[in-house]
Amino acid sequence: EDDVDGGEEYLFKVVVVGDSAVGKSNLLSRYARDEFNPHSKATIGVEFQTQSMEIGGKEVRAQIWDTAGQERFRAVTSAYYRGAVGALIVYDISRSTTFDSIPRWLDELKIHFDYVILMPREVQADYNNYHAVHSDTTVARMLVGNKCDLEHIRAVSVEEGKCLAESEGLFFMETSALDSTNVRTAFEMVIREIY
Ligand code: GTP
Ligand code: MG
Repeated sequence: EDDVDGGEEYLFKVVVVGDSAVGKSNLLSRYARDEFNPHSKATIGVEFQTQSMEIGGKEVRAQIWDTAGQERFRAVTSAYYRGAVGALIVYDISRSTTFDSIPRWLDELKIHFDYVILMPREVQADYNNYHAVHSDTTVARMLVGNKCDLEHIRAVSVEEGKCLAESEGLFFMETSALDSTNVRTAFEMVIREIY
């Protein structure tokens, strides 16, 4: 993973988090392969896909990591988050419990992106300098309300999504992996922001 080949190529790691069944794996398969699975199984452990795009004439590759939303299937260690420069935090607009979980997912991201816990006093100043540049505010984070095709059973309003995103300093977008609404845009906005 670390031996990125040289030259004019860029590789960015993006993680996708959120409760089980919000559609993380389908967002990824829609983006990477233009596929949707109406009967997809819960993810076990971690999977990733690499997707290329062109920005300003340069080839940019995004390695997008997807993990289980279900606690018992999660194999998440700090390795999942290590090196990530972008994150999609996903809920399902038809299930408010998945929206209520967002603060928990944000905390988890904070803990992993903000990995220095204890440090000698003499490095504190250095750390603070470093931190000012590399804290999680430089990780491009997008709040994603997925399944916007389910308007008839919507449980979280667009306003609520926007509001939370604004207060947490996140980008915001509603998507549908089913009908493809905003899927490409959501991933590419995060990748572009990183770049
Ligand atoms: P875990 O792997 O358990 O964390 O779940 P997940 O977040 O990866 O969800 P997954 O992509 O497996 O999708 C769960 C269910 O929601 C599946 O039945 C999908 O077909 C369905 N689904 C995913 N995205 C959409 C969407 O945009 N609209 C609708 N209507 N259904 C969706
Ligand atoms: Mg999954």
